[in-house]
Amino acid sequence: MPVESIRLESGFGGGEHLIHRAAANPQTGFIGVEPFVNSMAKLLARIEELGLRNIRLYDDDAVLVLDWLPDACIDHIDLLYPDPWPKKKHWKRRFVSDVNLQRFHRVLKPGGLFCFASDIDTYVNWVLQHIDRHNGFAWTARNASDWLTPFEDWPGTRYEAKARREGRSSAYLSFRKT
Ligand SMILES: C[S@@+](CC[C@H](N)C(=O)[O-])C[C@H]1O[C@@H](n2cnc3c(N)ncnc32)[C@H](O)[C@@H]1O
Repeated sequence: MPVESIRLESGFGGGEHLIHRAAANPQTGFIGVEPFVNSMAKLLARIEELGLRNIRLYDDDAVLVLDWLPDACIDHIDLLYPDPWPKKKHWKRRFVSDVNLQRFHRVLKPGGLFCFASDIDTYVNWVLQHIDRHNGFAWTARNASDWLTPFEDWPGTRYEAKARREGRSSAYLSFRKT
């Protein structure tokens, strides 16, 4: 079935968010990326159970699929609670980097959205600094509370629930490709 837009989620983990969005938006085509085999198996079972037809999956590093995709083909990218690497000496392992932001920028359509959520303050600052340096994205926040408000129709994720149990709140950042 033809789709009206394409949305990619990198590192879907338990898949709660991807399944929720795909069920709620049958006219959108979803690309789910997750290298962890148990998560992939669980998601496949869930897709079959629900009979969803609008999800395609990639079971390796998101960098590989991003580099395979043509320019300006994606409407929306979700990077939700990527591995936090909280220790400073590991920050360079974080998925958000100058080079990966450029990968997102290349595959996004003009006006496309990059949405990021994290419960780790230093990662949130890290992303804002990288976005600022990149210069090809505009932060959509209009007021101080915007980034504390979950994205519209937000189902939560397993990792987010764990953060809450451990007393950490989250930031929700949306950036538009300029
Ligand atoms: C902290 S978990 C969060 C999972 C899920 N998004 C959530 O909020 O519950 C980070 C996920 O990113 C995946 N991941 C790590 N590096 C990745 C990469 N290079 N490409 C795609 N996924 C990756 C991990 O396997 C893991 O499932």
